[in-house]
Amino acid sequence: METVVSGIRSTGNLHLGNYYGAVKNFVEMQQNYRCFFFIADYHSLTTHPTPSNLQDTVKQVLIEYLAVGIDPEKSTIYLQSHVPQIAELYLFLNMNAYVGELQRCASFKDKIRAQPDNVNAGLLTYPVLMAADILIHKATKVPVGKDQEQHLEMARTFANRFNRMYKNNYFPEPYAFSFDKNLIKIPGLDGNGKMGKSEGEGNALFLSDTPEIIRKKVMKAVTDSGPTELNQSKPPSVQNLFDLLKVVASEDTYQHFEEQYNLCQIRYGDLKKQLTEDVIKTTAPIREKINDLSKNNDYIRKIARIGAEKARDNAQKTIKEVREIIGFNY
Ligand code: TRP
Repeated sequence: METVVSGIRSTGNLHLGNYYGAVKNFVEMQQNYRCFFFIADYHSLTTHPTPSNLQDTVKQVLIEYLAVGIDPEKSTIYLQSHVPQIAELYLFLNMNAYVGELQRCASFKDKIRAQPDNVNAGLLTYPVLMAADILIHKATKVPVGKDQEQHLEMARTFANRFNRMYKNNYFPEPYAFSFDKNLIKIPGLDGNGKMGKSEGEGNALFLSDTPEIIRKKVMKAVTDSGPTELNQSKPPSVQNLFDLLKVVASEDTYQHFEEQYNLCQIRYGDLKKQLTEDVIKTTAPIREKINDLSKNNDYIRKIARIGAEKARDNAQKTIKEVREIIGFNY
């Protein structure tokens, strides 16, 4: 069975875009692959060196991933910082990673532009740590979006270089397992692009949002004054609401509003009410789980501990062999 690794940024609060765009696929992958999902808490220090609420955000991420259906019996879910073998492999890989190639990495260039006062070495070696995350489990599949393609290419470079330098075939090549092709794009509520956390207040619907908040956000969503001609095409803001409805509502419901629109009989108030109800219906079971898990600190801690043990066991095998291959077997 092939091995999958994916790192989750420790920001928490999944929205519908995260869910339908990526996380739902993780849940499906558990059935067919040996999956390792971890929270990239070491990586977060490259941009937030003195985190104030690390405990809470990490806990929230863990809770939300469990709530959407990552099953700790099927997958290994853990915190990166619970697996020191990752840091050790990072050290070894750093010795064979060249400053020039790291400086050419697009994400490094973006970051130094974004934080010119904190161009730390961790930023430069971010791709090396990411390669260590993946190679420590000898994973071949990494479910990430297009923006991570270059990092994956670097992970392959480091794996191949290691194999060449120490004359073995130890690390397999990891490839992005991209669902970008059949990805459902979830639009935001502000009438522009996709749903996103940083796009402004009210644009994103979070899985943890209460029904009242969902209602408020949907009711405030941007529309226009309505169609004036039969079968008129929809402006982006209205199309967004239809796209959202398509994801959460039944086909009949969707067709009903489509017809109403084409006949110029649509009432956006009704459309929004329906959308609100269907978003609430879709997210309610997840939100209930989030709430239940939030109250159960012992369980969350236990899951993190079991995940850490499983991840460390597997990581230890790799690091032992890597030490031997390089020659640290005295
Ligand atoms: N760089 C990834 C991101 O920004 C997060 C990440 C860290 C990751 N380590 C990883 C993803 C290993 C996949 C595998 O989304």
